[in-house]
Amino acid sequence: MNNEMILETIITTVDENCQPQIAPMGVWWQDDHLVLAPFKPSTTLDNLQATGHAVVNFTDDVSVFAGCLTGRYDWPLAAAENIQGNRLHSALRHIELTLVDMQDDELRPKCLCAPVLDKTHAPFNGYNRAQAAVLELAILVSRLHMLEPEKVHREIEYLTIAVDKTAGPRERQAWSWLMKRVDDYFLSSAAV
Ligand SMILES: Cc1cc2nc3c(=O)[nH]c(=O)nc-3n(C[C@H](O)[C@H](O)[C@H](O)COP(=O)(O)O)c2cc1C
Repeated sequence: MNNEMILETIITTVDENCQPQIAPMGVWWQDDHLVLAPFKPSTTLDNLQATGHAVVNFTDDVSVFAGCLTGRYDWPLAAAENIQGNRLHSALRHIELTLVDMQDDELRPKCLCAPVLDKTHAPFNGYNRAQAAVLELAILVSRLHMLEPEKVHREIEYLTIAVDKTAGPRERQAWSWLMKRVDDYFLSSAAV
């Protein structure tokens, strides 16, 4: 397993009433376990602690990442096979997890999870620069309140090149949702 490399994934969990939660999250392998590190407060963390389970979804559909950051959570799900919960229908691969240990922390606990099912549904289709650019913009959007506006504008200018040159319809849609969020943020901060 590739220890240390952070993989950008979609985590699906459910609460005790089976209410789903979908959240983009970086995870990494620690030998044959996966580590999730949610910032508190976190619904994903609450669900993982309450049920003992989560699903890691690997997808090249970056509109799911952009959607979750812009209030769009209605992504098609399919029932998990070995645990109570769901996987993302569009996942290329999903891994069902059981929580085995938690290193608690005031800010960001580390949740060590053991795979109970690892299933591939579709092939990896190759790298795409616009997909990487959308992920980078999603990260910027999640940190707008912490970043200097000049840095945000400079990075967007650079990321736009990859989107203009290589995006397909899904990436353009995702990019436009995130850019609307950026524009709204700067409009509202200019009004204060
Ligand atoms: C690519 C990407 C990676 C992210 N990784 C994490 C992460 O590792 N931990 C975290 O708490 N939030 C991460 N976020 C932000 C969360 O997705 C976001 O705060 C979400 O609302 C958390 O939902 P929750 O309340 O279920 O934790 C990431 C966002 C993006 C776009």
